Amino acid sequence: MEAIIRPNQESAALLVALLVAKELRAQPSLVLGLATGRTMESVYDRLARMHQAEHLDFSLCRTFNLDEYVGLAPADPHSYRYYMNERLFRRVNIDLRNTHLPNGLAADLDAECRQYEEKIQRCGGIDLQLLGIGKAGHIGFNEPLSALRSRTRVKALSSATVEQNAGFFGAANVPRRVITMGVGTILESRRCLLLATGPSKAAIIAQAVEGPITSMISASALQLHGRCTVVLDEAAASQLQASDYYRWIFDNEPEWEEFR
Ligand code: F6R
Repeated sequence: MEAIIRPNQESAALLVALLVAKELRAQPSLVLGLATGRTMESVYDRLARMHQAEHLDFSLCRTFNLDEYVGLAPADPHSYRYYMNERLFRRVNIDLRNTHLPNGLAADLDAECRQYEEKIQRCGGIDLQLLGIGKAGHIGFNEPLSALRSRTRVKALSSATVEQNAGFFGAANVPRRVITMGVGTILESRRCLLLATGPSKAAIIAQAVEGPITSMISASALQLHGRCTVVLDEAAASQLQASDYYRWIFDNEPEWEEFR
């Protein structure tokens, strides 16, 4: 795992967008894993603007989102399909048939989960997986005690996540169940890129990045991944113990020169 610290939310999101754009240019048929949530909004906005200004090409790109609410139709403004369509897919030249989210309305949810894993396999696996982190440490919706080898499945949301999402729904209406890729599914992607910004993520980032690996904090499992980059702003990095070392890496290592 490597941690990269940028001065503010905007520069952290820009770096993530630039890393995605670089991989997409190198491999136009990239299989891109996507996350939703507030943190990702500025990444998708940047990517859409790169498409408009620099012709960043999504025509061959395939995407798989981490999760979807059970019981919400794609046209529901609270669904993650709707979020993705509005924030990214309609703003770039992606073929909607190449974009995948679990179907939260499937009659047989377990079969839907199995088929989602099979679709990822048929596309050759995920090349680059974008991730956010919940305040209790989830990636996707892998809530506390999610098995580190878990696969795509139905998961009940913790009360912390329900509270975190209440702003979107109004507290009483937050769906309690989701389909989410498992921790094991996420760990199989060839590269992971986690973005966390703001002071509310500082404590959980310190635990996930520098604390012990534990199923209580599913993001800590990313320490097992061979190629995981955690991009932070100063606020989210403020409780890390080795932040001077992480800053030195970004400022000095040749790999980061083009992004400085
Ligand atoms: C959503 C997802 C979640 C979010 C996380 C952070 O697809 O996978 O893990 O990334 O809850 O959400 P925000 O960015 O709203 O704080």
